[in-house]
Amino acid sequence: MTEHVTVHPRNRLAAWIEERLPVFSFLASHTSGYYAPKNFNVMYYFGSLALLVLANQILTGIFLTMFYNPSAAGAFDSVQYIMRDVKWGWLIRYMHEVGASMFFIVVYLHMFRGLMYGSYKKPRELVWLLGMLIFLALMAEAFMGYVLPWGNMSFWGAKVIITLFSAVPWIGDTLVTWIMGNYFPADATLNRFFALHVIALPLVLLLLVVLHLAALHEVGSNNPDGVEIKQKKGPDGHPLDGIPFHPYYTVKDLFGVGVFLIICAFIIFFEPTVGGYFLEPDNSIPANNLVTPAAIKPVWYFSPFYAILRMIPSKGWGVLALLASIVLLFLVPWLDRGKVKSIRYRGTGYKVALTIFAIVFVLLGTIGADLTAIWIPEIFGANADVTFIENLYGRILVILYFGFFVFLWAYTYFGWERTRPVPERVSMHE
Ligand code: HEM
Repeated sequence: MTEHVTVHPRNRLAAWIEERLPVFSFLASHTSGYYAPKNFNVMYYFGSLALLVLANQILTGIFLTMFYNPSAAGAFDSVQYIMRDVKWGWLIRYMHEVGASMFFIVVYLHMFRGLMYGSYKKPRELVWLLGMLIFLALMAEAFMGYVLPWGNMSFWGAKVIITLFSAVPWIGDTLVTWIMGNYFPADATLNRFFALHVIALPLVLLLLVVLHLAALHEVGSNNPDGVEIKQKKGPDGHPLDGIPFHPYYTVKDLFGVGVFLIICAFIIFFEPTVGGYFLEPDNSIPANNLVTPAAIKPVWYFSPFYAILRMIPSKGWGVLALLASIVLLFLVPWLDRGKVKSIRYRGTGYKVALTIFAIVFVLLGTIGADLTAIWIPEIFGANADVTFIENLYGRILVILYFGFFVFLWAYTYFGWERTRPVPERVSMHE
């Protein structure tokens, strides 16, 4: 909830600007004038961390662009040049590359927080929808960025993912050629992906993030109790359970930033490829359209969705399932008819379902990352039919993934949920 704060700067230049364009009042209204619930917990760090990573990606990206060569002939070598010859180039590249994976870790936790505390429910449906649009843009941004170093996984990853568009009826094959600008990923593909990755999608992302925060500040933040703090106001007109975002949460978020940066620094300096998960070994080999990597698999953050695609036998249905798995996330505010927001006061069914959903998502990720090819022979013996076991196991997980959404709707639509009374004030109001 934003309350208008009028600022009268003492500095003459600032006062001159403020009179013509009240930027200082605007900033104050959205920081010290923004009343946020006082019971935010650790799950509330990830929004500000996502902003931090976004800034990191843009800043390091600008410097990478200065030395990167967006052509099929020069891209791979220019990345090697950045890594070996450009001063601090390795650091900038690793910050960008580790940043990409950290972005998804942070955003997945941020989304999970939304599901835990019902932050997608009225009046925050639009905050959620804009968040989901951000998620889509982020996936496109990461995919195109991955193609740019023009390693062998860049090439084959691009080929597999763009070819999925051939599942579109009638125009599928033409669409694939149109996107690639050739019959296989080539110079034209790299050029357009570069343009989209460095300018078009970052602009879209920035715009969506501004709208996301504007929508949030209009309705106010939810909190771990799912209590609407603006319904209980004190004599001064401020929510009784609210505290000004600045200085209270700016300081708290800074603590989160500190811890997060220590973790990031540790990864960047000691294990920047994270065992091949953040940066795959096959991408240290130049793109070669005659040599397919042993296993074509996406980076870890796409692997749950990739598993859903792969577990469905036909390409058309696989692509539809992949689309549905994301569209359903958009629809969560309307699938969930329950009035109680926070998991703290929701029925046991929801607690169990959300836990299973989170586990299933991670397990699907291990299938998409091809870990099943390792553990199935270990458990079932060298002669085990890996494909059969993987398909059986994977399809059960896919059913459970979609089952979550069906359950969520039925559980709340038919009134099966037994909720606990929600307190009037947040639980730490004393
Ligand atoms: C670049 C990516 C994103 C950025 C920078 C971002 C930023 C933020 C920030 C700063 C907040 C307020 C602080 C907080 O509640 O943690 C917030 C809240 C929120 N975000 Fe995001 N967000 C991003 C992506 C997403 C995505 C992908 C979703 C879900 C689909 C989402 C859903 C929400 C919701 C529902 C809230 C309100 C939470 C509440 O009040 O309980 N966001 N976001």
